Amino acid sequence: MEYETPLFFRVIEYASRADRDVIDMVSGKPDWEPPSAVRDGLSEYATHPSDAFQYPPSEGLFELREEIARRRGVDTEHVVVTNGAAEANYLAMACALERDRGDEILLTDPVYPYYPGKTTMLGGTQSFVPTDATGQLDPAAVRAAASDETAAIVVNSPNNPTGAVYPAETIHSLVAIAEEYDAILISDEVYDRYDLSGEFESALAAKSNHRVVTNAFSKSMAITGFRVGYAIFPPKLAASAKSRHMLVNVTASRPAQYAALNALRETDPEYYDGNRALLRERVETFTDALEAAGASYTTPMGSFYVMARFEEYPGTLENVFRLIDEAGVAGMPGEAFGDSRAAWVRFALVTPRVEAAAERLAAFFE
Ligand SMILES: Cc1ncc(COP(=O)(O)O)c(C=O)c1O
Repeated sequence: MEYETPLFFRVIEYASRADRDVIDMVSGKPDWEPPSAVRDGLSEYATHPSDAFQYPPSEGLFELREEIARRRGVDTEHVVVTNGAAEANYLAMACALERDRGDEILLTDPVYPYYPGKTTMLGGTQSFVPTDATGQLDPAAVRAAASDETAAIVVNSPNNPTGAVYPAETIHSLVAIAEEYDAILISDEVYDRYDLSGEFESALAAKSNHRVVTNAFSKSMAITGFRVGYAIFPPKLAASAKSRHMLVNVTASRPAQYAALNALRETDPEYYDGNRALLRERVETFTDALEAAGASYTTPMGSFYVMARFEEYPGTLENVFRLIDEAGVAGMPGEAFGDSRAAWVRFALVTPRVEAAAERLAAFFE
């Protein structure tokens, strides 16, 4: 398998070489502060005796797994602490394929591009179920696409890149479809703390041996560089997930787990409320300016992305490069997320300069 530089690295690299000021709205890397308890936990850790600098248990610090399990209402044994949601998704997909109940992974279009990448890496085949214009997924379409070949259905709500938040009925129907076809629903909930709609439903609400929930502190605590996530497995999959995690990684970073645990325990809901309020403001500012510029755009119900489409300016890589050079705004080409959004550009609201960005875009398209 060849290493193919992900499109977003290429865009970031291009933007960094630009001969002008560029507003970076490329990747989902929060620019807001982590909870103060993350910093406290990290500095405290530096004073620990040296045995705290050695391997933690492979499946994660017990206290962190226990804290996650308590909060999520699951058994500690079923929680595996991973290197971000990225590894949690990888483990979930690998375990679903290992069951030998087919090698097809059902994905959505548009899609978070690492899911099809992981599918190929794991020797699976992918099929895509289109979502509607707002990014909602029709369970009937998923049912129609599912078959005995389906090993897993991978969904993400709140969604990157569409901003859709699936209603409870969708989530419960998806779990039911996974059960019907003896497949695994993998629900990536990494943006759960950025539900702006109040509609978010975790797949954990559906008690089932056919679903895996993946998550991380990367986005919720603005610590994408820490690499602490987790997956919650049904009893039958937990053992194989733990052994794969151990063989691939040994474990996840101990100081990072400690700091995340400290923040889980010490952070008030106001921290998350504040981040949501900031995002709401940015969504409004950015979409108002896009409206004034005559662009089509999505208004996210959750996550932190807005997709925009400009008349006669498809969101190809080439056009995104041109926006960097000529407008001074960097986004992600829609083609990165599948065919259905190839005309669109995705902008991550991870900069205080969203208004300036939208004004630059308006001036460019005038
Ligand atoms: C939908 C989705 N899942 C997973 C990830 C990766 O999360 P982590 O940094 O915790 O590995 C991202 C990051 O952008 C994402 O958008």
